[in-house]
Amino acid sequence: MSFESLHRIKQEELQKKTEEIVKELTIESDEICKLTSYFIESMESGLDHQTSTSSKGLPMIPTFVLDKPNGTEKGVLMACDLGGTNFRVCSVTLNGDHTFELKQLKTKIPLEYLEDDTVTSEELFGFLARRIKVFMNKYHPDGAKEIFKMGFTFSYPVDQTSLSAGTLIRWTKGFKINDAVGKDVVQLLQDQLNKLELANVKIVALCNDTVGTFLSHCYRSVNSDSLTVGEISEPVIGCIFGTGTNGCYMEEIANIKKLPAELRDDLINKQGKRYMCINTEWGSFDNELKVLPTTKYDIILDQKISPNPGFHLFEKRISGMFLGEILRIILVDLHQQELLFQQFKVLPHRLSTPFELSTEVLSHIEIDDSTDLRETELNLLQSLRLPTNLQERVCIQKIVRAISRRSAYLAAVPLAAILIKTKCLNRRYHGEVEIGCDGSVVEFYPGYRSMLRHALSLSPIGPDGERKVHIFIAKDGSGVGAALCALVA
Ligand code: GLC
Repeated sequence: MSFESLHRIKQEELQKKTEEIVKELTIESDEICKLTSYFIESMESGLDHQTSTSSKGLPMIPTFVLDKPNGTEKGVLMACDLGGTNFRVCSVTLNGDHTFELKQLKTKIPLEYLEDDTVTSEELFGFLARRIKVFMNKYHPDGAKEIFKMGFTFSYPVDQTSLSAGTLIRWTKGFKINDAVGKDVVQLLQDQLNKLELANVKIVALCNDTVGTFLSHCYRSVNSDSLTVGEISEPVIGCIFGTGTNGCYMEEIANIKKLPAELRDDLINKQGKRYMCINTEWGSFDNELKVLPTTKYDIILDQKISPNPGFHLFEKRISGMFLGEILRIILVDLHQQELLFQQFKVLPHRLSTPFELSTEVLSHIEIDDSTDLRETELNLLQSLRLPTNLQERVCIQKIVRAISRRSAYLAAVPLAAILIKTKCLNRRYHGEVEIGCDGSVVEFYPGYRSMLRHALSLSPIGPDGERKVHIFIAKDGSGVGAALCALVA
């Protein structure tokens, strides 16, 4: 066979394979509906069963946050936030009029804390405490006698036992420090602060980043305190679509069956409270893979590459930490099938290294409309040292768009489920609702919010429900939200 005809056959095979992959990644509207019903079931099951003892349902962690801020809160509070990439220390002034001022110190978490298996929790929390000390020396040098209330945003699953205590269930987003699992993370940090003679900084609240995002959105939303005047819209969900994904909402305390009956009684009948914020930890929706669409690439990612196989499978199809990795795994597979990058016997080092292909690269490819996809060519060259031909780039762009669309369609599922479960779309006249979001994917990935909205209209809430949803980017949730948590502690 001539070289030309062999080349043509390969080209056709690549196109066919690309179509197959795109089809596998496509989520139809009936699947969105099925996933939404199963999500509601998983929420209900999670509200009935203890997180650590049951594998059924979602974690649905009670946060002990009982009220939504309305923007009139006032005070100066400290906050710190351990995310997947950075540690931030802030002091937040809440002005009581929906506005705030924030001073902050942001530090990139040194890679050894993420990559080195021998690092201990004492070392990690010691590092965090030293950063807090640097902040205090800079902004509150004379504050040794004052008591500073601090909210701690900790964006990993914890079994929360009160507003200010919670034990780590497991790490996500890359950390592997095993001896921290099962320990109270507030105590771990407070011990290290005390060692540095910073006992006057008191961690009074533990707050997941979704909860911080939600509270900070409520504080900022002018609608929080104006529902009686014109009934505009009501904040109902806080969520993150960034390195990881997660969401929270206010649940009726009476429905949180896993809380001890006496506690529920005390909250409802003695304290007159009706709702508690629930951190769903939706990243671990359907870890048993009953309904979640799964491709062979998802299995490779989970089993062979991720540090927590079998957990957070929903997150592994949605969040920024994984979208680039899914593409990388597909490209490596197509190379092994001799359909891509045929000039290489051995692939360039970066393409064969897990997590080297970042979701940011996908965001450039997603919207590339340059002649011959030159932008894509440059991006792949710069980020992976990977030369490509036009036909390869056309296929890569189709796959990129399928990966991001699947992510956004799946992201709509928990939103639709919570809107339905809380009946908030029917709660009041015209029932308009607000969703406060944070995270690089929802904020920066081109077209993500439109795709998510489209999927909401295909979900059981339909186009009528979708029109009532207002999506806001709630920045600084981890600072302002944690400060709001600390204020009520
Ligand atoms: C992961 C964590 C969760 C966090 C989310 C977003 O899913 O388990 O606690 O809220 O990432 O950062």
